[in-house]
Amino acid sequence: MGQQNQGSSILFEPFKIKSVEKLHLSTPKQRRLWIEEAGYNVFSLTSEQVVIDLLTDSGTAAMSDEQWSEMIKADESYAGSRNFLELEKTAREITGMEFILPVHQGRAAEHLLFSTILKEGDIVPSNSHFDTTLANIEDCGAQGINLPTEEGTSPFLKHPFKGNMDVDKLKDLLEQKGERIPAVMMTITNNTGGGQPVSMKNLEAVSSLARQYGKPLIIDACRFAENSYFIKKREEGYKDYTPAEIARKIFSLCDIVTFSGKKDALSNIGGLLCLRDRELVDKLKTKLIVTEGFPTYGGMAGYSLAAMNQGLKEVLDEGYLKYRLRTIEWMVERLEAAQVPVLVPAGGHAIYIEASKFFPHIPRENFPGITLTTELYIRGGIRGCELGTVAFGKRDKDGNHIFPPLDLVRLAVPRRVYTEAHMGYVVECIKEIYSERGRCNGFEFDVEYPIMRHFRSTFKPITA
Ligand code: F0G
Repeated sequence: MGQQNQGSSILFEPFKIKSVEKLHLSTPKQRRLWIEEAGYNVFSLTSEQVVIDLLTDSGTAAMSDEQWSEMIKADESYAGSRNFLELEKTAREITGMEFILPVHQGRAAEHLLFSTILKEGDIVPSNSHFDTTLANIEDCGAQGINLPTEEGTSPFLKHPFKGNMDVDKLKDLLEQKGERIPAVMMTITNNTGGGQPVSMKNLEAVSSLARQYGKPLIIDACRFAENSYFIKKREEGYKDYTPAEIARKIFSLCDIVTFSGKKDALSNIGGLLCLRDRELVDKLKTKLIVTEGFPTYGGMAGYSLAAMNQGLKEVLDEGYLKYRLRTIEWMVERLEAAQVPVLVPAGGHAIYIEASKFFPHIPRENFPGITLTTELYIRGGIRGCELGTVAFGKRDKDGNHIFPPLDLVRLAVPRRVYTEAHMGYVVECIKEIYSERGRCNGFEFDVEYPIMRHFRSTFKPITA
């Protein structure tokens, strides 16, 4: 029987469940009270107040029996831990890079690297920087510039590789401001742009431009396995490659890798910085000892190194990746059929809904994304994340809103955690809210924090 074929109505999970965690069920009445107490900010809910938690796919994976058994056997030595050596070997095999530095999570790799190679006034172009990446660049007095393609910024246009970088724009920037650009960056998959993949062709073009201008290429490889499988499925010439072969080819195109083990290492914590340049590694190791820990543990317990190592061995499995990408696609197909304004085609780790199209009667200054996260929570106990006007919008000097291009709400799917029934329940809740959308109202700020507003700001409903 062919599991997971495209278009198949059944989601076939390629695992059996050996250990279970109770879901905390609640009623809409309870949730209405809890979200009011949380100031309508889902970040302030406790996990026990949530039924299905789609806030992030980061650090939320279910680990396998193999990961747990490796964790129990782990070596907790400060220096020379066997688990570091095993992780180093696996990461070298996947990336082809000689130097592997462990860090406690992705942003620690970003901080370590950028605080070493960037200076004030520098520019780092990317297909799209993730928010911590951008914050770490700006922390050095440098500037991050996103160069997505036109398709990549059109939420309802179908294109196989909407995560790509606009190569012409990169060339122009290198021509005009080359002396201020110490490195070029690519994020795979492109989280900010909807979990959309980058093609090998685009990676090759960016890599060759970077080399032509003598700039190192950094890959933010948080979701490298998902991106590799997208290439296998969507790009001509790769259908007979294994995801591991594709990943190896991707990494051959770059010089440095920043990596969060909380995504495609199927782990709850951990990260890596992988490099080829020995001189740079020497500088980084000194700083690593000061900020993260000795270079054979980098802020992680031996058992976390073990979980990451085993997770990296599991994540490139084709059966797993097929199920993983099919899950998002399965949800998108159902939402699209119900005319819900969902970003297409399906990305790798999350569904993204355009909230200002979902609630066209709610002005953007009244945060349609907060209306949607609130409705999802009250109706279904589902926690999603606003990534629109609240998260990415700003104010001008007169206090007027500057709106980001899209008003997205992201529902990120933890790896191997939820079943088809759970995902079907989420789809049904979204469809129900959509069919009653006219009765929903917007919000205004109660307390507004100026930076990273989505984490801590609170809101008040506007009563019609
Ligand atoms: N790069 C990308 C593309 C990410 O998505 C993340 C984290 C990071 C870097 C930072 O990694 O969390 O281990 O420090 N993304 C999470 C998310 C938080 O919800 O998308 P980290």
